Amino acid sequence: MKGKSTERPLVLTGLQPSAGVQLGNFLGAIRSWVSLQESMECLFFLADMHAITVPQEPDQLRTNTLDCVAMYLACGIDPEKSQIFIQSQVFGHAELAWILACSTAIGQLERMTQFKDKSARKESESVGAGLLYYPLLMAADILLYDADYVPTGEDQKQHVELTRDVAEHFNRRYSPTFTVPKPLISNACARVMSLQNPFAKMSKSDPNPLGVVFLTDSDAQIQKKFRSAVTDSGREVRALPEKPGICNLLEILCGLTGEPVEELEVHYASASYAEFKGAVAAAAVATIGPIREKFFELRQKKDFLLAVLERGRKTAQEQALSTLSKVYRKVGFLEK
Ligand code: TYM
Repeated sequence: MKGKSTERPLVLTGLQPSAGVQLGNFLGAIRSWVSLQESMECLFFLADMHAITVPQEPDQLRTNTLDCVAMYLACGIDPEKSQIFIQSQVFGHAELAWILACSTAIGQLERMTQFKDKSARKESESVGAGLLYYPLLMAADILLYDADYVPTGEDQKQHVELTRDVAEHFNRRYSPTFTVPKPLISNACARVMSLQNPFAKMSKSDPNPLGVVFLTDSDAQIQKKFRSAVTDSGREVRALPEKPGICNLLEILCGLTGEPVEELEVHYASASYAEFKGAVAAAAVATIGPIREKFFELRQKKDFLLAVLERGRKTAQEQALSTLSKVYRKVGFLEK
């Protein structure tokens, strides 16, 4: 960990194990995490405490959490290089979040786009306080470990910015305590959109199951989803503002193949939409197929997954306790 065995920058990030891992998670986030392992100290975790901000079926949440661990590994996260742990298994996240909440204005939280979107969708139902509090738990996740960088998709950038504000505020009010983290947002595929609605981001909770591609989908399911992707009434494969569906598919194909969008436009200049969608589907199958096979193989090895998590938990817990005791002292809690 930073400050101990190595001076490499520290990266911390994670995802909510609320369902399987989808293509947006992979292209916008996980794929870049894999390459960061080579040059930085990395902590990757599963935010199960965030997942319960919306109702979860308990057994399903447990299953999904282990699924996500296996998927991290299948995507290329290497437990010999990085630590993987589960948020709820490390003491300190909720404690620090509470302390941060005590010096954060409610207005700051109400301004978060994700909160506004999620609470607007609920309308008449009551909105859980956890949804409002969510970015503070995320700030605690990051600040507990003195993370230098937080690689995420575009949708989480605002939360990392809030974390910076919260850290700076605490550092000013008490004394320098937290590293102020920087967001790392990839240039391509930072916001993959739903295949059924190019104005909404691809998400596990897409009301239309055809809108989201999971990394566990079969080849046939992947092909079907891309074949039925929403496009427009035109015929040209061009990245134009009036073609949000095509733009999304071009971006996805660029993410999958590494070929820049401008080159893809030339490449598919005379292709029909159906041919183009077939090409995107083929590229997705080529990327997802091997990950899916690896995932099913790893998912059988429960003991191995638990051993990886235990190693991660121990490392994370040591750092979390060290930060927490410093924070407790600064805010005036009596020592044990
Ligand atoms: P989550 O679980 O929604 O998403 C995990 C990661 O995937 C990215 N992502 C996307 N990127 C591109 N296009 C999409 N359609 C897409 N959908 C998701 C997300 O930006 C994210 O990087 N709050 C976080 C989890 C979290 C966290 C943290 C992250 C909790 N504490 C501390 C970093 C640091 C979340 O819900 O991610």
